[in-house]
Amino acid sequence: MHVLLTAGPTYEPLDPVRFIGNRSTGKMGYALAEAFAATGARVTLVSGPTALPTPANPLIETVRVETAQQMYAAAAAVAPRADVWVFAAAVADYRPAEVATEKIKKQGDTLTLTLVKNVDIAATLGETKRTEQFSVGFALETTNELLHAHDKLLRKNFDLVVLNSLRDAGAGFGHDTNKVAVLDRVGQVLTFDLQAKTELAHRLVQLILSRFTAVYAS
Ligand code: CTP
Repeated sequence: MHVLLTAGPTYEPLDPVRFIGNRSTGKMGYALAEAFAATGARVTLVSGPTALPTPANPLIETVRVETAQQMYAAAAAVAPRADVWVFAAAVADYRPAEVATEKIKKQGDTLTLTLVKNVDIAATLGETKRTEQFSVGFALETTNELLHAHDKLLRKNFDLVVLNSLRDAGAGFGHDTNKVAVLDRVGQVLTFDLQAKTELAHRLVQLILSRFTAVYAS
């Protein structure tokens, strides 16, 4: 069993000292990597910049990247031979159209940046997914959560989508705990109560592996 996992944020440079990023800590993705490795699976962890230590488990190979383009290249190199893909990274949807080679100097009262769309890693790889492969995505929605998450599942060819709750204190970005609902392709919803990300990771891995085995056996 070989698992491809993306985790953490991406940083999109503006100049040599500045970037556009987000508050993802990578905790959920790293916890998933450890939980998969605990079952004996080999994991390729493609990680954006995080403060977390590189996992010491020899079953986990960590590939450190910065930008969405680098994350895509690293994930695409592994995806064809991985059995399970888990996209836990918070990828920047856009990047600055131009990266200045020198530090941008202060000028005038406003500054307008032009951004261009980044590659959608999960959706692009989703187009290449074979029937014996299994893909899991994450979603963070603020309105019509289940509907939007299911739409995302279909658009990105996920087999399962983990819906992060934004409404609950203690869940999601920066916290050690999380509360999620998992949707499958037929619209079935499984809810997981607020719990430590490490604990939740083990439960999610059990669910993913049982669903993967069911698909693989059919
Ligand atoms: N994702 C990705 N590459 C991107 C954007 C998102 O691989 N460029 C993956 C994330 O890792 C996650 C899933 O797609 O598993 C959903 O991410 P989200 O940001 O919620 O989706 P978007 O397509 O950006 O949708 P929107 O911003 O319209 O909600």
